Amino acid sequence: MITIYSSPLQGFSDFRFRNAYQRFFGGIDKYIAPYIRVDGNSEIKRANERDILPANNSSIDLIPQLITKDAGEFLFVAKHVQNLGYTELNWNLGCPYPMVAKRGMGSGLMTTPVKIDEILTRVLAETDIQVSVKMRLGYENPREILQVLPVLERYPLANITIHPRIGKQLYKGEVDLKTFEECLGQTSHKIFYNGDITSVQSFREMKERFPSINNWMIGRGLIADPFLPAMIKADNPLYPENRYEIFNSFHDAFFSSWEEALSGPKHLLMKMYPFWEYFIQSFPNSPKGLKKIKKAQSLSVYREVVRQIIYNEGINSSK
Ligand SMILES: Cc1cc2nc3c(=O)[nH]c(=O)nc-3n(C[C@H](O)[C@H](O)[C@H](O)COP(=O)(O)O)c2cc1C
Repeated sequence: MITIYSSPLQGFSDFRFRNAYQRFFGGIDKYIAPYIRVDGNSEIKRANERDILPANNSSIDLIPQLITKDAGEFLFVAKHVQNLGYTELNWNLGCPYPMVAKRGMGSGLMTTPVKIDEILTRVLAETDIQVSVKMRLGYENPREILQVLPVLERYPLANITIHPRIGKQLYKGEVDLKTFEECLGQTSHKIFYNGDITSVQSFREMKERFPSINNWMIGRGLIADPFLPAMIKADNPLYPENRYEIFNSFHDAFFSSWEEALSGPKHLLMKMYPFWEYFIQSFPNSPKGLKKIKKAQSLSVYREVVRQIIYNEGINSSK
């Protein structure tokens, strides 16, 4: 039996996306929320707060995430999410963006395992929340993780997710499966594999290479092809017959949820465009679709372009 978690995507996988996704596609066991950052303030931002409110996540199983290099901040967020009823908090040691990493957070913290050790010692002594970790192989160098795993081995973590790239790569280049394999021999924690699963075929290849891994996390692949997790679970790369109707209903529900939240068409169109940069991968019959969405200045034009993209694909794929 395999487990699939939805990987956090700041700016994408907020509660509106998660709820619409869960309603129309499923296949996801748990969702990790995009990270909370408190940055010295003893305050959770309103957008973060809203994103993890149980009332906004009632149809899904959610795990909040934080990014920090400070045990006090960690404990503050842990207490806050515990008060909301959460029993697990995921710690981000993977964020690659220089603004974050250069300040010693996310993948930037991978270069100082001694700090990770100090933070975990204090956090796990002072809270009983379950801590899980999501990390890259390192920031500068993929060998950094081999210094971090022995530290993590000393703590009772819920699990560790590894995205086998280094921070400096951002999302470029290949995932380093050789180092990932080496990591498996260096830890007794439950490991989630994360990175570049974009089709049932690419999942099967990964599963064949790492048969001991039963836990998987998918991020971008799930936006580009929302049917992917359910197809992986069914071990069957066949889409439902009414694939485009389902997508259409999902899009309408998702769009409406943002329409209620944002004022004015401009904001709404700006919100939807980055999603279409992923969605469009499911619509090869509309090579100019993305450009048309970018050019849409009004909601009625946007709606018509989306209708055409979905209709084109449905018609052409049923021929
Ligand atoms: C736009 C964007 C935002 C992301 N935000 C987060 C985040 O908040 N927390 C996190 O741990 N990872 C974040 N990630 C990393 C993803 O969760 C995931 O680890 C990465 O995309 C690799 O998995 P994938 O190939 O399945 O997408 C983000 C990635 C992208 C592209």
